Amino acid sequence: MDMKSIPAQTGNYNLENYEEMYKTFDWEDARKNFTWNETGKVNMAYEAIDKHAENPDKKDQPALVYSAPGREETLTFSDLKRESDKFANVLKKHNIEKGDRVFMFLPRSPEFYAAFLGILKTGAIAGPLFEAFMEQAVRDRLEDSGAKMLITTPELLERVPEKELPDLKQVVLVGGEGSEDYISFEEEMKDASQDFDIEWVDLEDGMLLHYTSGSTGKPKGVYHVHNAMIQHYQTGKWVLDLKESDIYWCTADPGWVTGTSYGIFAPWLNGVTNVVKGGRFSADDWYSLIAEKEISVWYSAPTAFRKLMSAGAEVAKKHDMSSLRHVLSVGEPLNPEVVTWGLKAFDLRIHDTWWMTETGAQLICNFPAMEIRPGSMGKPIPGIEASIVDNEGNELPPNQMGNLAIKEGWPAQMRAIWNNPGKFESYFVNGWYVSGDSAYQDEDGYFWFQGRLDDVINTSGERVGPFEVESKLIEHEAVAEAGVIGKPDPERGEIIKAFIMLNDGYEESEELLEEIRQFVKKGLSAHAAPREMEVKDSIPKTRSGKIMRRLLKSWELGLPTGDTSTLEE
Ligand code: PRX
Repeated sequence: MDMKSIPAQTGNYNLENYEEMYKTFDWEDARKNFTWNETGKVNMAYEAIDKHAENPDKKDQPALVYSAPGREETLTFSDLKRESDKFANVLKKHNIEKGDRVFMFLPRSPEFYAAFLGILKTGAIAGPLFEAFMEQAVRDRLEDSGAKMLITTPELLERVPEKELPDLKQVVLVGGEGSEDYISFEEEMKDASQDFDIEWVDLEDGMLLHYTSGSTGKPKGVYHVHNAMIQHYQTGKWVLDLKESDIYWCTADPGWVTGTSYGIFAPWLNGVTNVVKGGRFSADDWYSLIAEKEISVWYSAPTAFRKLMSAGAEVAKKHDMSSLRHVLSVGEPLNPEVVTWGLKAFDLRIHDTWWMTETGAQLICNFPAMEIRPGSMGKPIPGIEASIVDNEGNELPPNQMGNLAIKEGWPAQMRAIWNNPGKFESYFVNGWYVSGDSAYQDEDGYFWFQGRLDDVINTSGERVGPFEVESKLIEHEAVAEAGVIGKPDPERGEIIKAFIMLNDGYEESEELLEEIRQFVKKGLSAHAAPREMEVKDSIPKTRSGKIMRRLLKSWELGLPTGDTSTLEE
């Protein structure tokens, strides 16, 4: 049974009166929390870590609680300050300067967080890569960004085509020996000084590059600046409702934007203890972590909630979940069934939040002290204006479907697409940032997600570009042409389905299809490999040669095929 609405929670929340705050709030108010008022300069890593390490009441508070199979470690704010200062010195010693791109291809680990903060302290731009990426995915990102240094492990190094990357000057190995070619993280850290003069930067100086997929072309480098901290801090207060006594867990990997904005910045800017879990998903492990670490605020994704749901209520009942007080979700549509399940499993509402890699921080959200309408993403955070617009950027009336758009100029907004100003400009129409999502707004101001307007696939909350998968597929000797779509799936949201046309001389067989699937998996990543494949005699294309994914999708779903006038003979 789904509910139409769940009443506002009563309690002591950071944002008690949304309507009032929406009317009166100004981002200038939030700026006052940061150092630049005195110096005119700032640094995210200072505000997130050093500031607390300098505070006698906070310095010994756990900042990072790391838990993985075989490794448990806790670092206080002063530990993290020391480790990141040391690593910043290592970077300086190896000539890393402000504005350089330093990439990280590492599993979630204490070293990752120390290195990430160290990069920011030098004024360099951090580029975290998801651990599951394979060679092509790694190459595309390092090449496009012109990364000068990479921090990785000996195992992951095998997927880095170093010789093909002329800009890449240095590789730091975590857990590897130093040599003429490689810098050892451990050896350098042993000797590094604990005193580092942080690089004070301007608000608009670069901080972070996150690569993400669109429907055409290679992944795009979404460029974020230190200014984003204002919004990370403020949404940490209002949306995550963080209090200094909270134990917070964000399940996202820092290779994705949720894992940095809300797995690093928001909790630490708010001085909160941040739990990081390594290892794979297991319902039992997840619940145990909540119980053991006494997690109070938990930010996860619909796919994860659906997996927990299918693990059954008995698994949840084995664990003490009473520490939880606030649960949130992001990345894909949060089904009303999941919200209903959350009420039963934890006796708590799951708060949906909407935003994107490009937006840098949460924009449309359900707040604790607000009525929730299950299925709705909620309302715009104070300080931003959201609307539904047509293709020319004209606002549409309530209940009409259109482009979900945000009035440009919020603090965490991307400032560029790396090396691609044309792509960057294409997001903006008539003063609006146009998201590519379709949605409508009801009479009471709630936003309702409807789908993507382009062919971008969202599988288990991970964004996959069909073009990348198609390009990889046709690299296989058996594949002549390929078209890739997202197919609705009850657990993963969407799965990747590939239609392929085989080259002459190849016969369809289970083994061949599996070989092709593995080829994509080994080249790109597991989440980009098609879960379903179908062999066709031809792949529908427009006369200009574009794959008609929409037509493939209609076939797959048994829907009317619509306008096919541009279809090639
Ligand atoms: O389609 C929307 C979907 O995820 C896209 C953004 O993906 P990404 O840049 O990888 O960022 C994900 C986490 C910030 C959006 O364009 N999406 C994100 N949140 C929601 C969502 N779809 C429905 N409901 C959401 N709450």
